[in-house]
Amino acid sequence: MSDHTPSQQAALDRSIVLEERIRAAPAQFRVLTGDRPTGPLHLGHYLGTLANRVRLQNLGVEVIVLIADYQVMTDQLASHQLPVTVRGIVADYLAAGIDPAQSAIFTHSAVPALNELVLPFLSLVSDAELHRNPTVKSESEATGKRPTGLMLTYPVHQAADILFCKANLVPVGLDQLPHLETARLVARRFNDRYTDQPLFPEPDALLTDTPMLMGLDGKKMSKTRGNGIALQSSEDETAQAIRRAPTDGDRQIIYDPIHRPAVANLLDLLAAATGCDPQRLADEIGAGGGGRLKQTLTEAINELLRPLRHRRAELTADAAHVDQILDAGNARARHLAQETLAEVHDALGMTYANR
Ligand code: TRP
Repeated sequence: MSDHTPSQQAALDRSIVLEERIRAAPAQFRVLTGDRPTGPLHLGHYLGTLANRVRLQNLGVEVIVLIADYQVMTDQLASHQLPVTVRGIVADYLAAGIDPAQSAIFTHSAVPALNELVLPFLSLVSDAELHRNPTVKSESEATGKRPTGLMLTYPVHQAADILFCKANLVPVGLDQLPHLETARLVARRFNDRYTDQPLFPEPDALLTDTPMLMGLDGKKMSKTRGNGIALQSSEDETAQAIRRAPTDGDRQIIYDPIHRPAVANLLDLLAAATGCDPQRLADEIGAGGGGRLKQTLTEAINELLRPLRHRRAELTADAAHVDQILDAGNARARHLAQETLAEVHDALGMTYANR
Protein backbone atom coordinates (compact mmCIF):
# COMPACT_ATOMS: atom_id res chain seq x y z
CA MET A 1 0.00 0.00 0.00
CA SER A 2 1.35 3.42 -0.89
CA ASP A 3 -0.19 6.78 -0.15
CA HIS A 4 2.54 8.77 -1.85
CA THR A 5 1.96 11.32 -4.58
CA PRO A 6 3.59 10.56 -7.94
CA SER A 7 6.39 13.04 -7.29
CA GLN A 8 7.03 11.59 -3.84
CA GLN A 9 7.11 8.11 -5.32
CA ALA A 10 9.54 9.26 -8.01
CA ALA A 11 11.83 10.73 -5.33
CA LEU A 12 11.65 7.49 -3.33
CA ASP A 13 12.53 5.42 -6.40
CA ARG A 14 15.39 7.75 -7.24
CA SER A 15 16.73 7.43 -3.71
CA ILE A 16 17.20 3.71 -4.21
CA VAL A 17 19.34 4.38 -7.29
CA LEU A 18 21.27 7.07 -5.42
CA GLU A 19 22.03 4.69 -2.54
CA GLU A 20 23.67 2.33 -5.03
CA ARG A 21 25.73 5.15 -6.53
CA ILE A 22 26.79 6.35 -3.10
CA ARG A 23 28.08 2.91 -2.22
CA ALA A 24 29.94 2.67 -5.53
CA ALA A 25 31.48 6.16 -5.47
CA PRO A 26 30.97 8.05 -2.21
CA ALA A 27 33.52 10.73 -3.13
CA GLN A 28 31.23 12.00 -5.90
CA PHE A 29 28.71 13.22 -3.37
CA ARG A 30 28.54 16.12 -1.01
CA VAL A 31 25.72 16.12 1.51
CA LEU A 32 24.21 19.21 3.08
CA THR A 33 21.70 18.73 5.87
CA GLY A 34 20.54 20.79 8.77
CA ASP A 35 18.29 21.41 11.71
CA ARG A 36 16.73 24.49 13.13
CA PRO A 37 17.94 25.18 16.63
CA THR A 38 14.52 25.48 18.25
CA GLY A 39 15.42 23.16 21.13
CA PRO A 40 17.46 20.11 22.03
CA LEU A 41 17.50 17.26 19.53
CA HIS A 42 15.32 14.27 20.37
CA LEU A 43 15.02 10.59 19.60
CA GLY A 44 13.11 11.31 16.39
CA HIS A 45 16.06 13.30 15.09
CA TYR A 46 18.44 10.55 16.05
CA LEU A 47 16.55 7.69 14.46
CA GLY A 48 15.16 9.72 11.56
CA THR A 49 18.14 11.74 10.38
CA LEU A 50 21.17 11.82 12.63
CA ALA A 51 21.99 8.14 12.37
CA ASN A 52 21.63 8.42 8.59
CA ARG A 53 24.09 11.32 8.42
CA VAL A 54 26.61 9.34 10.40
CA ARG A 55 26.05 6.37 8.10
CA LEU A 56 26.72 8.52 5.01
CA GLN A 57 29.79 10.07 6.61
CA ASN A 58 31.13 6.63 7.43
CA LEU A 59 30.56 5.51 3.85
CA GLY A 60 32.99 8.25 2.84
CA VAL A 61 30.58 10.99 1.72
CA GLU A 62 31.49 14.54 2.68
CA VAL A 63 28.77 15.75 5.04
CA ILE A 64 28.18 19.40 5.91
CA VAL A 65 25.74 20.06 8.72
CA LEU A 66 23.96 23.37 9.11
CA ILE A 67 22.47 24.67 12.33
CA ALA A 68 19.92 26.94 10.68
CA ASP A 69 19.79 29.76 13.20
CA TYR A 70 18.13 32.26 10.86
CA GLN A 71 15.24 29.82 10.53
CA VAL A 72 14.46 30.34 14.19
CA MET A 73 13.55 33.93 13.26
CA THR A 74 11.51 32.59 10.39
CA ASP A 75 9.41 30.65 12.84
CA GLN A 76 9.22 33.67 15.14
CA LEU A 77 10.40 31.69 18.12
CA ALA A 78 12.23 33.05 21.12
CA SER A 79 15.92 33.39 20.41
CA HIS A 80 17.39 34.19 23.81
CA GLN A 81 18.25 30.52 24.34
CA LEU A 82 20.20 30.24 21.09
CA PRO A 83 23.68 30.00 22.64
CA VAL A 84 22.65 27.11 24.87
CA THR A 85 20.60 25.38 22.19
CA VAL A 86 23.21 25.70 19.45
CA ARG A 87 26.05 24.43 21.64
CA GLY A 88 23.80 21.60 22.81
CA ILE A 89 23.05 20.59 19.23
CA VAL A 90 26.75 20.57 18.33
CA ALA A 91 27.27 18.24 21.30
CA ASP A 92 24.34 16.05 20.13
CA TYR A 93 25.88 15.76 16.65
CA LEU A 94 29.31 14.86 17.96
CA ALA A 95 27.91 12.39 20.48
CA ALA A 96 25.88 10.75 17.71
CA GLY A 97 29.06 10.18 15.70
CA ILE A 98 29.51 13.19 13.45
CA ASP A 99 33.30 13.36 13.07
CA PRO A 100 34.52 16.95 12.80
CA ALA A 101 37.62 15.76 10.97
CA GLN A 102 35.36 14.69 8.08
CA SER A 103 32.18 16.70 8.48
CA ALA A 104 31.80 20.44 9.04
CA ILE A 105 29.19 21.83 11.42
CA PHE A 106 28.27 25.52 10.98
CA THR A 107 25.59 28.15 11.59
CA HIS A 108 23.90 30.53 9.12
CA SER A 109 24.86 33.58 11.12
CA ALA A 110 28.59 32.87 10.80
CA VAL A 111 28.53 32.72 6.99
CA PRO A 112 27.53 36.08 5.46
CA ALA A 113 28.40 35.00 1.90
CA LEU A 114 25.83 32.19 2.12
CA ASN A 115 23.15 34.64 3.16
CA GLU A 116 24.12 37.03 0.38
CA LEU A 117 23.37 34.36 -2.21
CA VAL A 118 19.71 34.77 -1.25
CA LEU A 119 19.64 38.10 -3.16
CA PRO A 120 20.45 36.87 -6.67
CA PHE A 121 18.46 33.69 -5.99
CA LEU A 122 15.33 35.67 -5.10
CA SER A 123 15.43 37.21 -8.56
CA LEU A 124 14.94 33.75 -10.05
CA VAL A 125 11.55 32.91 -8.48
CA SER A 126 8.20 34.60 -8.76
CA ASP A 127 6.02 35.61 -5.83
CA ALA A 128 3.37 33.13 -7.06
CA GLU A 129 5.89 30.30 -6.82
CA LEU A 130 6.74 31.35 -3.28
CA HIS A 131 3.09 31.49 -2.24
CA ARG A 132 2.42 28.07 -3.76
CA ASN A 133 4.97 26.19 -1.62
CA PRO A 134 2.88 23.67 0.34
CA THR A 135 5.19 23.57 3.35
CA VAL A 136 5.15 27.36 3.67
CA LYS A 137 1.36 27.26 3.32
CA SER A 138 0.86 24.65 6.01
CA GLU A 139 3.33 26.33 8.34
CA SER A 140 1.62 29.69 8.08
CA GLU A 141 -1.77 28.00 8.50
CA ALA A 142 -0.47 26.27 11.62
CA THR A 143 0.53 29.59 13.17
CA GLY A 144 -2.65 31.28 11.93
CA LYS A 145 -0.62 34.26 10.76
CA ARG A 146 0.09 35.60 7.30
CA PRO A 147 3.64 34.58 6.38
CA THR A 148 6.32 37.20 6.96
CA GLY A 149 8.66 38.05 4.12
CA LEU A 150 11.25 35.82 5.69
CA MET A 151 8.85 32.87 6.00
CA LEU A 152 7.75 33.27 2.41
CA THR A 153 11.30 33.34 1.11
CA TYR A 154 12.80 30.69 3.32
CA PRO A 155 12.74 27.99 0.66
CA VAL A 156 15.06 30.28 -1.31
CA HIS A 157 17.24 30.70 1.76
CA GLN A 158 17.27 26.94 1.99
CA ALA A 159 18.35 26.80 -1.67
CA ALA A 160 21.30 29.01 -0.69
CA ASP A 161 22.03 26.63 2.23
CA ILE A 162 22.37 23.79 -0.24
CA LEU A 163 23.94 25.53 -3.21
CA PHE A 164 26.57 27.60 -1.40
CA CYS A 165 28.65 24.45 -1.06
CA LYS A 166 27.33 22.86 -4.28
CA ALA A 167 25.90 19.96 -2.35
CA ASN A 168 24.36 17.39 -4.67
CA LEU A 169 22.61 15.29 -2.05
CA VAL A 170 20.18 16.35 0.65
CA PRO A 171 18.81 13.70 3.00
CA VAL A 172 15.32 14.92 3.89
CA GLY A 173 11.88 13.83 4.96
CA LEU A 174 8.96 13.93 2.56
CA ASP A 175 7.78 17.26 3.99
CA GLN A 176 10.95 18.93 2.74
CA LEU A 177 10.58 17.82 -0.90
CA PRO A 178 8.96 21.09 -2.03
CA HIS A 179 11.97 23.00 -0.69
CA LEU A 180 14.29 20.78 -2.60
CA GLU A 181 12.28 21.49 -5.72
CA THR A 182 12.91 25.19 -5.11
CA ALA A 183 16.64 24.54 -4.76
CA ARG A 184 16.65 22.60 -8.03
CA LEU A 185 14.69 25.33 -9.75
CA VAL A 186 17.05 28.03 -8.52
CA ALA A 187 20.11 26.02 -9.63
CA ARG A 188 18.60 25.35 -13.05
CA ARG A 189 17.49 28.91 -13.66
CA PHE A 190 20.79 30.37 -12.49
CA ASN A 191 22.71 28.04 -14.80
CA ASP A 192 20.39 28.73 -17.75
CA ARG A 193 20.37 32.46 -17.32
CA TYR A 194 23.91 33.32 -16.31
CA THR A 195 26.43 30.65 -17.19
CA ASP A 196 27.72 28.61 -20.13
CA GLN A 197 29.00 25.81 -17.93
CA PRO A 198 26.54 24.90 -15.15
CA LEU A 199 27.75 26.48 -11.90
CA PHE A 200 25.36 24.66 -9.60
CA PRO A 201 24.43 20.99 -9.49
CA GLU A 202 20.72 20.21 -9.19
CA PRO A 203 20.65 18.63 -5.76
CA ASP A 204 18.84 15.35 -5.19
CA ALA A 205 16.71 14.48 -2.21
CA LEU A 206 17.80 11.32 -0.47
CA LEU A 207 14.76 9.77 1.21
CA THR A 208 14.66 6.77 3.46
CA ASP A 209 11.64 4.51 3.64
CA THR A 210 11.52 4.66 7.43
CA PRO A 211 8.13 6.10 8.32
CA MET A 212 8.13 9.28 10.37
CA LEU A 213 8.25 8.53 14.07
CA MET A 214 5.47 10.03 16.11
CA GLY A 215 5.93 11.41 19.62
CA LEU A 216 4.84 9.68 22.80
CA ASP A 217 1.34 11.16 22.41
CA GLY A 218 0.98 9.92 18.84
CA LYS A 219 1.40 13.40 17.34
CA LYS A 220 4.36 14.55 15.28
CA MET A 221 7.43 14.48 17.50
CA SER A 222 8.47 18.05 18.02
CA LYS A 223 10.72 20.04 20.23
CA THR A 224 7.98 22.56 20.90
CA ARG A 225 5.29 19.99 21.71
CA GLY A 226 7.56 18.32 24.26
CA ASN A 227 6.38 14.84 23.27
CA GLY A 228 9.78 13.53 22.29
CA ILE A 229 12.67 12.20 24.30
CA ALA A 230 15.58 14.62 24.25
CA LEU A 231 18.89 12.93 23.54
CA GLN A 232 20.34 14.81 26.50
CA SER A 233 17.65 13.74 28.97
CA SER A 234 18.54 11.35 31.79
CA GLU A 235 17.38 7.74 32.09
CA ASP A 236 14.93 8.81 34.81
CA GLU A 237 13.49 11.61 32.71
CA THR A 238 13.09 9.14 29.88
CA ALA A 239 11.23 6.72 32.15
CA GLN A 240 8.97 9.51 33.42
CA ALA A 241 8.12 10.74 29.92
CA ILE A 242 7.23 7.23 28.81
CA ARG A 243 5.16 6.62 31.96
CA ARG A 244 3.06 9.65 31.05
CA ALA A 245 2.42 8.43 27.48
CA PRO A 246 -1.21 7.50 26.76
CA THR A 247 -2.20 3.84 26.26
CA ASP A 248 -5.66 2.28 26.43
CA GLY A 249 -7.67 0.13 28.84
CA ASP A 250 -7.13 -3.14 27.02
CA ARG A 251 -4.65 -5.32 28.87
CA GLN A 252 -3.64 -7.55 25.95
CA ILE A 253 -0.99 -5.88 23.80
CA ILE A 254 -1.58 -6.33 20.08
CA TYR A 255 -0.31 -4.31 17.13
CA ASP A 256 -3.37 -2.67 15.62
CA PRO A 257 -2.65 0.87 14.38
CA ILE A 258 -6.29 1.48 13.37
CA HIS A 259 -8.11 0.39 16.54
CA ARG A 260 -5.35 0.72 19.13
CA PRO A 261 -3.37 3.74 17.86
CA ALA A 262 -1.79 4.73 21.21
CA VAL A 263 -0.42 1.23 21.84
CA ALA A 264 0.63 0.83 18.21
CA ASN A 265 2.52 4.11 18.42
CA LEU A 266 4.54 2.92 21.42
CA LEU A 267 5.21 -0.35 19.59
CA ASP A 268 6.42 1.62 16.56
CA LEU A 269 8.84 3.51 18.80
CA LEU A 270 10.03 0.26 20.34
CA ALA A 271 10.46 -1.23 16.87
CA ALA A 272 12.49 1.77 15.74
CA ALA A 273 14.68 1.65 18.84
CA THR A 274 15.35 -2.10 18.60
CA GLY A 275 15.13 -2.74 14.87
CA CYS A 276 12.53 -5.46 15.53
CA ASP A 277 9.14 -6.01 13.97
CA PRO A 278 6.30 -4.29 15.94
CA GLN A 279 3.99 -7.29 15.48
CA ARG A 280 6.55 -9.62 17.01
CA LEU A 281 7.23 -7.21 19.87
CA ALA A 282 3.47 -7.10 20.59
CA ASP A 283 3.33 -10.91 20.71
CA GLU A 284 6.21 -10.99 23.15
CA ILE A 285 4.61 -8.50 25.51
CA GLY A 286 1.10 -9.90 25.07
CA ALA A 287 -0.63 -10.15 28.43
CA GLY A 288 2.11 -8.09 30.08
CA GLY A 289 -0.04 -5.08 29.23
CA GLY A 290 0.73 -1.40 28.94
CA GLY A 291 2.99 -1.44 32.00
CA ARG A 292 5.25 -4.04 30.51
CA LEU A 293 5.24 -2.29 27.14
CA LYS A 294 6.34 0.97 28.71
CA GLN A 295 9.01 -0.72 30.76
CA THR A 296 10.38 -2.50 27.69
CA LEU A 297 10.34 0.75 25.73
CA THR A 298 12.11 2.64 28.50
CA GLU A 299 14.85 0.04 28.69
CA ALA A 300 15.25 -0.11 24.91
CA ILE A 301 15.56 3.66 24.52
CA ASN A 302 17.89 4.07 27.48
CA GLU A 303 20.07 1.27 26.18
CA LEU A 304 20.13 2.71 22.68
CA LEU A 305 21.04 6.19 23.91
CA ARG A 306 23.42 5.22 26.72
CA PRO A 307 26.68 5.43 24.76
CA LEU A 308 25.55 8.66 23.08
CA ARG A 309 24.58 10.22 26.41
CA HIS A 310 27.87 9.17 27.91
CA ARG A 311 29.85 10.81 25.11
CA ARG A 312 27.62 13.86 25.30
CA ALA A 313 28.31 14.33 29.01
CA GLU A 314 32.05 14.23 28.32
CA LEU A 315 31.71 16.76 25.52
CA THR A 316 29.64 19.24 27.46
CA ALA A 317 32.18 19.13 30.28
CA ASP A 318 34.59 20.79 27.83
CA ALA A 319 32.63 23.72 26.37
CA ALA A 320 35.72 25.25 24.77
CA HIS A 321 36.22 22.10 22.71
CA VAL A 322 32.65 22.23 21.40
CA ASP A 323 33.08 25.91 20.49
CA GLN A 324 36.33 25.14 18.70
CA ILE A 325 34.63 22.56 16.53
CA LEU A 326 31.90 25.02 15.59
CA ASP A 327 34.52 27.69 14.84
CA ALA A 328 36.37 25.33 12.52
CA GLY A 329 33.14 24.32 10.76
CA ASN A 330 32.17 27.97 10.36
CA ALA A 331 35.57 28.75 8.84
CA ARG A 332 35.21 25.90 6.35
CA ALA A 333 31.69 27.02 5.40
CA ARG A 334 32.84 30.64 5.00
CA HIS A 335 35.62 29.54 2.69
CA LEU A 336 33.23 27.54 0.49
CA ALA A 337 30.60 30.30 0.49
CA GLN A 338 33.12 33.00 -0.48
CA GLU A 339 34.35 30.88 -3.36
CA THR A 340 30.83 30.32 -4.63
CA LEU A 341 29.82 33.95 -4.17
CA ALA A 342 32.88 35.03 -6.18
CA GLU A 343 31.81 32.70 -9.00
CA VAL A 344 28.29 34.12 -8.82
CA HIS A 345 29.64 37.67 -8.98
CA ASP A 346 31.70 36.69 -12.02
CA ALA A 347 28.66 35.17 -13.70
CA LEU A 348 26.66 38.33 -13.00
CA GLY A 349 29.42 40.58 -14.35
CA MET A 350 30.14 42.15 -10.97
CA THR A 351 33.84 42.11 -11.62
CA TYR A 352 35.06 45.69 -11.44
CA ALA A 353 36.80 46.41 -8.15
CA ASN A 354 38.72 44.43 -5.59
CA ARG A 355 36.58 42.05 -3.67
N1 TRP B 1 14.17 23.33 7.21
C1 TRP B 1 14.89 22.24 7.79
C2 TRP B 1 14.09 21.69 8.98
O1 TRP B 1 13.11 22.23 9.33
C3 TRP B 1 16.26 22.65 8.26
C4 TRP B 1 17.11 23.14 7.14
C5 TRP B 1 17.52 24.42 6.91
C6 TRP B 1 17.63 22.35 6.06
N2 TRP B 1 18.24 24.49 5.78
C7 TRP B 1 18.34 23.25 5.23
C8 TRP B 1 17.55 21.00 5.72
C9 TRP B 1 18.94 22.81 4.06
C10 TRP B 1 18.17 20.57 4.55
C11 TRP B 1 18.84 21.48 3.72
O2 TRP B 1 14.47 20.71 9.54
